[in-house]
Amino acid sequence: MFELRIIIASTRPGRKGPIVAEWISAIAKADKNFNTEVFDLQEINLPFMDEPNHPRLKQYTKEHTWKWSGMVGAADAFIFVTPEYNYGFPATLKNAIDFLQHEWAFKPVAFVSYGGIGAGTRCIQMLKQVLTSLQMMPLFEAVNIPFFTKYINSQNKFEATEEQNKVAATVMASLLKWTIAMQSLRPDKAASPASE
Ligand SMILES: Cc1cc2nc3c(=O)[nH]c(=O)nc-3n(C[C@H](O)[C@H](O)[C@H](O)COP(=O)(O)O)c2cc1C
Repeated sequence: MFELRIIIASTRPGRKGPIVAEWISAIAKADKNFNTEVFDLQEINLPFMDEPNHPRLKQYTKEHTWKWSGMVGAADAFIFVTPEYNYGFPATLKNAIDFLQHEWAFKPVAFVSYGGIGAGTRCIQMLKQVLTSLQMMPLFEAVNIPFFTKYINSQNKFEATEEQNKVAATVMASLLKWTIAMQSLRPDKAASPASE
């Protein structure tokens, strides 16, 4: 079983991110290939990047960074649930990404984006550029939700369409393939030649 972490990118009061995340995390939790946990950046509450050293050195000086390092380092795969802010992704997500380096490397990441007419697609394109510099594998398959408030009912539940549920299943299948494939690229996971 692989360790999957769903990251809720938005942190503002009244945000809708957790509503969308609840839907995708129920799908992920039903998938027995993954042990799924949700990381909510509002709860994690990282300050603005406050480490003096480049993350590649892993010489962290703050307790919150070590904690975040342990949380991300233990994951095999990610799903980022993110809105589009001004055609980009939220600064809170960029900040959380920038704290670390090795902990992200050689891990696949899938996206659930939401927004207006653009469905968050422009923010995903921008994210892909950033994530590949960390040697992550951003998946082609993605759930992009346009005019997403249409799907939120009066109980604040996301009511996915059949199509959205199908796309989510495709994303999970692709995430599993990439998670398996990328194990061999990670020194902590790769089988050593001696053990073969
Ligand atoms: C600062 C800000 C910028 C936004 N920019 C965009 C945008 O570029 N594209 C878009 O589709 N929606 C945009 N929106 C609308 C968001 O899709 C909508 O407010 C959504 O609920 C934001 O996600 P959140 O509730 O999880 O914060 C923006 C919202 C905010 C607060």
